[in-house]
Amino acid sequence: MPKTTKLKKLTAPRLLARKGKKKIVMVTAYDATFAHLVEKGGAEMVLVGDSLGMVIQGHDTTLPVTLDDVVYHCRAVSRGLSRAHLCGDMPFMSYKASTEQALMAAGRLIQEGRAQSVKLEGGTEIAPTIRAIVSAGIPVVGHVGLTPQSVHSLGGHKMQGKKAPDQLRILEDAKAVADAGAFCLVLESMPAELAATITQEVSIPTIGIGAGPYCDGQVLVIYDMLGMNDEFSPKFLKHYAHLGSQIESAVAQYASEVQAGEFPGPEHTVFAEEAEDANSDNSLYSSGRKGLPH
Ligand code: KIV
Repeated sequence: MPKTTKLKKLTAPRLLARKGKKKIVMVTAYDATFAHLVEKGGAEMVLVGDSLGMVIQGHDTTLPVTLDDVVYHCRAVSRGLSRAHLCGDMPFMSYKASTEQALMAAGRLIQEGRAQSVKLEGGTEIAPTIRAIVSAGIPVVGHVGLTPQSVHSLGGHKMQGKKAPDQLRILEDAKAVADAGAFCLVLESMPAELAATITQEVSIPTIGIGAGPYCDGQVLVIYDMLGMNDEFSPKFLKHYAHLGSQIESAVAQYASEVQAGEFPGPEHTVFAEEAEDANSDNSLYSSGRKGLPH
């Protein structure tokens, strides 16, 4: 009998061990269908990012996202994954008020959201919080450089680390996060050379977004990389598809066929004779809509 090799779950220790060996592929997802598809496509880490505030909820920033929102989307995503590592983002003001608050929030993402790790933004100032969460047995992903939850104090979603003093601060932040026990670190929006230095200086994998090619892995927001909104095209982003325009034209065709009375045609209609046929299975589920196949 042929042996089927079941691929091992990508746990935090396995991902940590990838440092300097093989790049890590991370994308965001917010529901089970996308989670299933991105895993089949080769995503190894799936982040339920607070970017959901923008791409799902239609806000301008990540700030309105609540812990309940992230828990909800994590649960949905977890149902679509079998091997990939699920990381839940800790939203604005869910971890900065106190260590106790941070522990409770991280615990909910693991227990209710079924995430395998949590991500939080910040550097030196957040290191004690990271240490406490890691001590509670929860793997942590750090996030330095552009930290979108600080959009107001940064004066916008701007590239960080352009000048030497800022570069030094971001490097110190990265080291503090790694020393506090994070198992990997997102580097967002910074010059490639700075990301390269950080990647050399820390012992944990770096995952870049807008941080050049020298990181240990890359992450993109799935709606952005699939071109759901072609108008959003900053330099760091590559559109691997143009789903936005494809969706628009598919719905336009559907609309015109409905108006013209062309849809549903006979091939999409069940007539009485077929419905009464004892051998035909008219169940919707017989055509595959029964959870997600693995
Ligand atoms: O919220 C998010 O999607 C993120 C990624 C951009 C890293 O933090």
